[in-house]
This record gives sequence, structure tokens and C-alpha cells, in this order.
Amino acid sequence: MSLKGKKVLLAVTGGIAAYKIPTLVRLLKKNGAEVRCVMTSASCHFVTPLTLATLSENPVGIDFFNQQSGEWLNHVEWALWADVILVAPLTANSLAKMAHGFSDNFLHTTLLSAKCKIIAAPAMDLDMYQHPTTKQNMQKLEEMGCVVVPAETGFLASGLVGQGRMPEPEVLLSVIHSQVSKDKRFDGKKVLITAGPTFEAIDPVRFIGNHSSGKMGYALAEAASNMGAHVILVSGPSQLSTLNPSIEVHKVQSADKMLSVVQSNWQNIDLGIFAAAVADYKPSKTESHKIKKSEDELVLTLQKNPDILLWASSHKKNQKVIGFALETQNGEQYAKSKLEAKNLDAIVLNQLGEEGVGFGVDTNSVKLMFRNNKIISFGLQTKQQLSYLLLDELMNHLYE
Ligand code: PMT
Repeated sequence: MSLKGKKVLLAVTGGIAAYKIPTLVRLLKKNGAEVRCVMTSASCHFVTPLTLATLSENPVGIDFFNQQSGEWLNHVEWALWADVILVAPLTANSLAKMAHGFSDNFLHTTLLSAKCKIIAAPAMDLDMYQHPTTKQNMQKLEEMGCVVVPAETGFLASGLVGQGRMPEPEVLLSVIHSQVSKDKRFDGKKVLITAGPTFEAIDPVRFIGNHSSGKMGYALAEAASNMGAHVILVSGPSQLSTLNPSIEVHKVQSADKMLSVVQSNWQNIDLGIFAAAVADYKPSKTESHKIKKSEDELVLTLQKNPDILLWASSHKKNQKVIGFALETQNGEQYAKSKLEAKNLDAIVLNQLGEEGVGFGVDTNSVKLMFRNNKIISFGLQTKQQLSYLLLDELMNHLYE
């Protein structure tokens, strides 16, 4: 994703999650953004201004006055410089100040002078997060036009487990991108994406599954949404979740359930992208009780699962249908025959066996193949970056 030329102001307040901010600065710079940081004095206990100044290649704003030089920082200039401001981590105290217009330090005065979009990532202990005052303050920020990124659930610095964790830098990067991106080429389009594996139950505790993590499909969903699409994400059992409230997520377990969600949404879809690794076979019978370990040999009878992609392509009206192919040998040949046999508009081939490609990993390298024999190769890169490039090419070839 490109943030070339975008000016991002990071406002850091005093929470433990500030330790993630240097990584975010690196990611923003890597994606072409100009970065400046403002900090509360409390946040300097968690991450040093020197670290942020070095990584951002810009001075950090903390106090109005530099006692030694007699100079002062102009909060209006800092606020108007930014194309977007991210306040992260946002403590309960700073959240309350934002919601009520306090300006008792350089950071809050800068926020009050801002005219650009402000994104806030509250992070705190779970009881503070659930407190009615905190909830009201978050609602107030949203009413004032801020984008509030909900905290994630997990281990907290206090030792408790619950909602309060600041999302990872990659997620915050994606939220920033969606706010400043001018590339809204999917505006008005409805995109359905399948992601992750399917689990086919053998009995109440066992299933047939595969190693798909859902990363490719979720990255495509985020990118399509950031490019303006209304996204319906049909996800098999994956550890992933999306914080993007405009993505409509349907979680399913089996291929049968995935098919039925696709079928009930298909009529209004413009583009279907089938990135899920659907189990080709399911047990002919699901036992209602756990199978006992009595025999030396256990024979399972399997039957073919429905082909969801084939169902979609044979029910095309105005929809464009894109398949994925995961091959271990003769990739282009097999992918081409799937492209034709299933009447697809394009197919994305990942060749398993290359390092950093396919299941589970954060990166992928693929070939995008069209009906007119055009093939576009994409080198190894993050699934997020790749998703934007794939959608860009699909838009160029299928709609323009
Ligand atoms: O989830 P990750 O860990 O990020 O990994 C990503 C991925 C490797 C799973 C993804 O990039 C990918 O390649 N997905 C398709 C994998 C696959 O099942 O390929 P296939 O060649 O078996 O299936 C071909 C196409 O038919 C796919 O679009 C698949 O979604 C679809 N299909 C297959 C079987 C079936 N019963 N129904 C289907 O819709």
C-alpha cells in the first residue's frame, strides 16, 4: 500500500502499548509517509522521544517551550501540517480530555487545532475500557467525526485478559491508509470474498481441515473495503478477525455452510473472489458421539463437497468471478484448465513449495491469469500489499 507524500501525525499518550509505536513509525516510513510525533510527558516513560525522532527523521513535539533556546512550538502549524492524525495508544485520561476539549499540554492543544481526520486507538485495562464514562467518551469522539479503532481482546499488561489491547501496528497502518487513500475505485461495488479453511466434522471433536490461516482472504477484504467496496467476507474457521466495521463478516465451519452463505448473498454481488481453501471431501456421515478408540484400523468414507466456486461461476449474471489455485507442480497448466473449465474471469495461482508462499505465512507470490492468456506475475511481498496490486489489476482488466 502506498502512503507516498502523506503526512501522518502520531500522537502518543502514556500507556504501555506505546512500545508498539516505533514499529508503526517504521511501517509508515516504509510505505512512503512523512511522519511526525507528538507525545505527552507520561508517554516518554514508555518510549523515548529520541527513538521516535530517529525513526521518523523529525523532531518530536512534547512541550510548548524550549527553556534553553527560548523557542516555542506552534501547535497550529503542527496540527495543520497533518493529512491525518492517529492518537495511539489513547489512555482513558487522554480520551476524557479529547472528549471534553481539554488543552493542558502540547499534544491536546495540537489535537484541538486539527482540521484533518483524527483516528483514535484507545488502549487500557479491561475494567477501565468497560467503564460507562470511557464508553461515553468514545461515543463522543465518534459523534465529533473521529474514527475510533476498537481495542482488541487478549492478554493485558496488568496480567488480566480482556478487551483493552491496542491493535498491532499493521492494523493501524491499514486504518490510516483507508482514511487517506484517494483510491476509491471500488466505490459502489459489492465484493464477496471467501477466506480460510473449512472444517468437515468427523464427530463432535474431530474434523478434516487444512493449513489455511485466512490471511490472504482477510487482506483482500481489507484492501477492497479501503478501496471503497462494500465487502462480504465469508470466512471459514480462522483465528483472524477484522476491526473494519464496514466489512460484513460471516463465520462458517463447513463447505456446505460456506456455500449457503454465498448463495444467499450472490444476487447483488459485482465481484466474487474465492480465496478459501475448501476441503474437497467431507465424511459421508458425521458421528453424533465421539468415535471410541477400539479397532486397530478405522475406515472413513468420504464424499465430495460442493464446489462453491463452480456454483458461483455457473450462476453469473453480471458478476465477475475470480478463483484461486494452489498447485504443487505444473501450476500454470492446471490453473489455466481451472480458469476455462470453471468459466472464471481470472485465476490467482500460488505455487506451493516456494519459501514465503501460500498457507499460513504473511507473504505470498502469485500469478494472475486472465482468459485472454495474459499473465501478470507478482513477486514475494506481504499479503496486504499484494491485495492492493491484485485488486488494481482486476479493476484495470475487468472493468475498464
Ligand atoms: O489462508 P492463507 O493461510 O493466507 O493461505 C492462502 C491460500 C494459499 C489458501 C490462498 O492463497 C489459496 O490459494 N486459496 C485456494 C486454495 C485451494 O483450495 O485451491 P484449489 O486449487 O483446491 O481450489 C481452486 C479454487 O476453487 C479456489 O478458488 C477454491 O476457493 C475453490 N473451491 C475449491 C473446492 C471447493 N469445494 N469449493 C471451492 O470453491
